[in-house]
Amino acid sequence: MEKGFFIVFEGPDRSGKSTQAALLKAWLEENGFDVILTREPGGTALSEQVRKILLDPNGKVSPLAELFLFSASRSQHTAEIIKPAIAAGKIVISDRFTLSTEAYQGYGRGLPLDEIQTINNIASESIQPDLTILFDIPEQEFEKRMRAEETKNGTDRFESEHLDFRSKIHKAYKDFAQRKGIKKIDASKSIDDIRKEVLRLVKEIIIK
Ligand SMILES: Nc1ncnc2c1ncn2[C@@H]1O[C@H](COP(=O)(O)OP(=O)(O)OP(=O)(O)O)[C@@H](O)[C@H]1O
Ligand SMILES: [Mg+2]
Repeated sequence: MEKGFFIVFEGPDRSGKSTQAALLKAWLEENGFDVILTREPGGTALSEQVRKILLDPNGKVSPLAELFLFSASRSQHTAEIIKPAIAAGKIVISDRFTLSTEAYQGYGRGLPLDEIQTINNIASESIQPDLTILFDIPEQEFEKRMRAEETKNGTDRFESEHLDFRSKIHKAYKDFAQRKGIKKIDASKSIDDIRKEVLRLVKEIIIK
């Protein structure tokens, strides 16, 4: 059996990752592909438990504990879901992956990036995405979406961080966009325009 594909969606909170991940999954399935849509932190029973701890607005978690919790979640997710699905020829879409750790725990919390990259490699068993799509959202647009949802659903521990933290996350993703192999998308465009752009990028790798 041919090896599958591993596609990762990255970007700050509210940049539209989950919206587009669901649309991509639907398109791929309509076109006969076998798809696993998963997310970080989460994706397995253990990881969903960890997700609850990590996102609890009242929780107290040190930066280093946070790094290891995310990493524990990722190693389970990699071993239980991602690797077997790719080996079985499926297309795996992960809503966030290792770059989120570099952004939030590295740029955000100030932990050393080289150490984070080492831990990321261990937790992910060094699997590399075939495609990473980075959702680039201007801070004003982010604030607008944030306010629209806050009233509806409340905020999690990361979303309630102050402006300075969020600016660091935006800076992180700006830097990552320069890295080789990362495809940036303007997330302030319409949902349908972004959907088409995502499809174009995905077709480049899956249709040979
Ligand atoms: N292109 C777009 N234009 C305007 N609003 C959008 C767009 N894409 C998504 N939204 C809206 O913005 C909000 C955030 O979208 P979504 O949940 O997909 O983002 P996310 O990147 O998954 O966020 P999080 O990191 O918080 O999970 C939702 O209310 C969604 O409907
Ligand atoms: Mg989401």
